[in-house]
This record gives sequence, C-alpha cells and structure tokens, in this order.
Amino acid sequence: MKAIVGSDHAGINGRKDAIEVLHNRGWDVDERGPKTAEEKADYPDVAHQIATAVTAGEAELGVLVCGTGQGMAMTANRYSGVRAAVITDEFTAEMARAHNNANIACFGERVIGPEKIVAHLQTFLDTPFEGGRHEG
Ligand code: RB5
Repeated sequence: MKAIVGSDHAGINGRKDAIEVLHNRGWDVDERGPKTAEEKADYPDVAHQIATAVTAGEAELGVLVCGTGQGMAMTANRYSGVRAAVITDEFTAEMARAHNNANIACFGERVIGPEKIVAHLQTFLDTPFEGGRHEG
C-alpha cells in the first residue's frame, strides 16, 4: 500500500503526524513539501505533485495539508481521477470515504490542528467506500 503525503509550510506538523499514522498502519509513504515552516512553499506546487502521483497510479492514497485544506483540494481536483475532499470533522472524514470514495484527504492545519488531523485521518482510513448509488 503506497501513499504520498504533502504540505506547504502551514501544514508541516500535520504532514509529519499523518505520515506517522500511515507508517504505523503499514503504508509505504512518500513525502513532498518544505522541511521547515520557515521554508515557504506554494501550496499548488505540492498539490500538483501529489495529484500527479495519484493519477499516475504511483500512490493509491494522497494526503494534503495546508492552512485551510481548501487550496490543496481545489488544485488536486483539477486532475482527472482525483477525488480530493476537505475533511473538517469526524463526519466529513467518514463521508469522504463512504460516499465520495475520496482518494486524497485534505486537511487545514490552521483550522483543526495536528491532533484532529490524526483523529480524522484514522477515521478516513477505517471507513470503506459503500459503492452502490455512490458509484459513477
Ligand atoms: C498559506 O499561507 C495558505 O494560503 C495555504 O496554506 C492554504 O491555506 C491555501 O489554501
């Protein structure tokens, strides 16, 4: 199972914590984004890298963290085959998988903070796609 996780400078803590969650679950994880919060990065550049990897089949799951999650999701969703969802709480974490079959989970570190990113990512990963009326 291969995942790719990226952030800009506003999402570094959430990115690191998300990688730990995935490693603990046995995922092989690639990482993109700045090394420190002082190193400014343009969020679209990172979103393009993660969306490209997911559409190319190099990773089955992407995680993106920025200040709000919104810019990352807007950029990633330009790519055919990408279903990027902004996750703000437990309910959106569950629905993003169960109903939307999201393949990129986007989080806003300045909105919910790293602890909730970890909790909501766990829920996202634990939830299967329901299929049926949500297909297509
Ligand atoms: C960076 O300042 C901020 O604009 C970015 O992290 C994100 O929130 C954009 O959607």
